[in-house]
Amino acid sequence: MNEAVKEEVKEEKTCCGPTCCAEPAATPAPAIAPPAEPDARVQAVQDRYARLAEGAVSGCCGASASGCASEAAVSLGIGYEATDLAQVPGEANLGLGCGAPIGFLALQPGETVLDLGSGPGLDVFLAARPVGPSGRVIGVDMTPAMLQRARANAARIGVSHVEFREGRLEALPVESDTIDAVTSNCVINLVPDKRAVFAEIARVLRPGGRMVISDILLNGRLPAAVERDVLAYVGCVSGAMRQEEYFALVGAAGLEKVEVLRDVDYLAGLIDSAPDEVQALEARTGVKREEVLGRVRSVTFRASKPMR
Ligand SMILES: C[S@@+](CC[C@H](N)C(=O)[O-])C[C@H]1O[C@@H](n2cnc3c(N)ncnc32)[C@H](O)[C@@H]1O
Repeated sequence: MNEAVKEEVKEEKTCCGPTCCAEPAATPAPAIAPPAEPDARVQAVQDRYARLAEGAVSGCCGASASGCASEAAVSLGIGYEATDLAQVPGEANLGLGCGAPIGFLALQPGETVLDLGSGPGLDVFLAARPVGPSGRVIGVDMTPAMLQRARANAARIGVSHVEFREGRLEALPVESDTIDAVTSNCVINLVPDKRAVFAEIARVLRPGGRMVISDILLNGRLPAAVERDVLAYVGCVSGAMRQEEYFALVGAAGLEKVEVLRDVDYLAGLIDSAPDEVQALEARTGVKREEVLGRVRSVTFRASKPMR
């Protein structure tokens, strides 16, 4: 990553929004373009999430000083139940998701679940309860600091049927045809090669297996200045794909029965939880919120792998 991009990514505080929960900037940072090369983009994402995992930047504020929502408030806003959040350690929730996919999976005791881009482990721990000790939950993430945080959380609550593996979504460290249910929360938008991710999901799911994914999708083009903003990229907005192209990739991988379960305006949620930050995005890019409102969708969908 070039030094200017590194500095920008380092200084800004975000959740998985373009600017969610950063403190109000007196002078907004200028927009800096995300790197053009896919590998450099992945590196920018890894650098950002390593810093979030280490607490070097805050995911969400926790305190109300900047008018930001806490991680728990962000999670309630995207569909988690308070009773679910109470079951997991607070350190497993950095407010990085954009939906609540686990409840839609109807998990059964003994099932094997795979969480793609598991971060600090929130959805892994939520899945661990319904599958029980006869089941297994595997989280995969490419960022060592996130894995370290997730493993520390697992040790803290003493749950032994969860496992966190280091790896890329584009080349999963998982055997073929072994997974009953795949989930992922606000991650695939960050991956330049989305085709490879869906091909990998199709490979690891057992025949008849299912997936429920929450992700950011677009229903229109973003203004060029937002597309070029590195914080909008690592913050899960400008790496997002048009919904029809995205679902075409799901189908091309051999996955079927796509069904949208939830579709809400992601930016509207950020305006509520972090108004100062939406303002900072406007200042960096010169784009008014009205030009983007409605186009950035937080979508949760289901699909499955055919029996044969
Ligand atoms: C927005 S966070 C979401 C974390 C988690 N799903 C949650 O809801 O708390 C994105 C996570 O995906 C991981 N990630 C991003 N791109 C990845 C890739 N290509 N392969 C593996 N992990 C990736 C990051 O390291 C980070 O932990």
